[in-house]
Amino acid sequence: CGIIGIVGTEPVAERLVESLKRLEYRGYDSAGIAALEGGHIARRRAEGKLRNLDAVLREAPMQGRIGIGHTRWATHGRPSVANAHPHATTEVAVVHNGIIENFRQLRDELREEGANFESETDTEVVAHLVTREMRGGLSPVDAVAAALPRLQGAFALAFLFDGDDNLLIGARKGSPLAIGYGQGEMYLGSDAIALAPFTDTIAYLDDGDWAVLRRQGIEIRDSSNRRVERAVQKTTATAFLVEKGNFRHFMAKEMHEQPEVVAHTLAHYLDMANDTVQLPELPFDFASLQRVSIAACGTAFYAGMIAKYWFERYARLPVEIDVASEFRYREAPLPADGLAIVISQSGETADTLASLRYARQEKQHSLAVVNVPTSTIAREAEAVLPTLAGPEIGVASTKAFTCQLATLAALAVAAGRARGAISAEEERELVHALVEVPRLMNQALDLGPDIEHLARSFAKTKDVLYLGRGTSYPLALEGALKLKEISYIHAEGYAAGELKHGPIALIDENMPVVVIAPYDGVFEKTMSNMQEVAARGGRIILITDETGAGHAALETEATLVLPDMNPFITPLVYAIPVQLLAYHTAVVMGTDVDQPRNLAKSVTVE
Ligand code: G6P
Repeated sequence: CGIIGIVGTEPVAERLVESLKRLEYRGYDSAGIAALEGGHIARRRAEGKLRNLDAVLREAPMQGRIGIGHTRWATHGRPSVANAHPHATTEVAVVHNGIIENFRQLRDELREEGANFESETDTEVVAHLVTREMRGGLSPVDAVAAALPRLQGAFALAFLFDGDDNLLIGARKGSPLAIGYGQGEMYLGSDAIALAPFTDTIAYLDDGDWAVLRRQGIEIRDSSNRRVERAVQKTTATAFLVEKGNFRHFMAKEMHEQPEVVAHTLAHYLDMANDTVQLPELPFDFASLQRVSIAACGTAFYAGMIAKYWFERYARLPVEIDVASEFRYREAPLPADGLAIVISQSGETADTLASLRYARQEKQHSLAVVNVPTSTIAREAEAVLPTLAGPEIGVASTKAFTCQLATLAALAVAAGRARGAISAEEERELVHALVEVPRLMNQALDLGPDIEHLARSFAKTKDVLYLGRGTSYPLALEGALKLKEISYIHAEGYAAGELKHGPIALIDENMPVVVIAPYDGVFEKTMSNMQEVAARGGRIILITDETGAGHAALETEATLVLPDMNPFITPLVYAIPVQLLAYHTAVVMGTDVDQPRNLAKSVTVE
């Protein structure tokens, strides 16, 4: 979810919505705002995308100069107007990002005292809790101070009070919240991008902080209610809304940006003139590391899986990888000289952040590969390697993924050198291969029309299988994820060698099998697996290179041919046809490509 608040000098409704549009990447199940109209709390809410809220506001405009807003990604209670934020009593309105874990207990307690609940959300208990304190005689500020310690879980909150035209309160525990300083106006919001249209002067609240905003200034308190100062910084968050340009969808634009942003990222980590890796100084020595533990979610997790192959092969460095939601609770014993790598586009994913904190607590070195440099994960990790993909708006990650791969590839080569696992000559070869990636990506994008054609038959299927070996295996998983996310077609990725241990039972003349098979050390093995599919009448879509196409000796429904390349870099380049296939299938099916149902770009709940 995304939250925003303005204590302003002019009507705020329009500006709240403008800011929510920037936060829509955090969820778009419903949206709403609350403002003081004639001194009293009034709300406008709508199910679905922000344009619906826009329409409600056109029907019933608001004039208030103080207000809060919210765009929701449903956790407790389905998307509906009743469950849309802000939640309110006659005394207070609240917007919330995160989860109140003890809400059932609180709700029962408040119900017994006569509180009337209108929604199924966990958030509404916060409104009633504060209301109870206010009705008991406390001021709004004291009421919030009394209510906050009762809340368990992770949250960011913003409050608006009936009858007080000069008071907003924000609180943060576990979910991000920034405050912004303006000219006679003050703001709060989930991130710097939300505040960018109003101010570039912001401060991030620390965990446990809460802030009292008035037009004259902002007072910050920590979890034990002591007055604190938090560093005020100038942000560089772009003040403009990122535009689609000539593309139909952000996802299309972002896929086509990959040669450029990957080149940009590589330039940051490579000395291209000398074909060597050039990383910023890191606070640990690869040579003495025992093990790397990687934690991440979704697409970033698959980038980590590919990196595991690289670290093990080129740096002889053992790697464990887990999805972050498992890593954080697994109580894995971590070695004395261990490095934890977390990978995240947003840098705000709750499980990934918790994994980083767990690893730090377990005395691991920590390194974050993140795309948003001002994010919580970037701020909390010992070392940060930014991916320079630029803002990624499409919910399905594309350019952030390949920039993560570019960064991790450079890191693996650096580790290989530091550990003496590769020679200077091998380093040059690997770096040289990386330098070729942008050019090869451009050639991969040229497959667009062929893939568009293929997508027409894909759109008619119910299930798709993706297979690969080596680094093509995680890419198969990513391919299946991409297709599921945006076309809603069921897809599964499998290690090609596992086919005969189960999924082969699914093969028939209806289910396409996408095989990712560059001509590398395991190509022939994958081809044997393909024969098993062909023998059962399966529909094979082969993604390979020129040499592979020459050796395949296989009847396929389609073969997508890429140029030959060093096997090290194949995941970066093969990612493109895999993304294009998902994209064009979704376009044929007419789904909402940039904002698929039920998903959110940044998931700040566990
Ligand atoms: C969400 C997105 C995925 C993304 C994952 C991890 O589920 O829908 O596309 O891969 O979060 O996000 P992060 O920002 O940590 O990379």
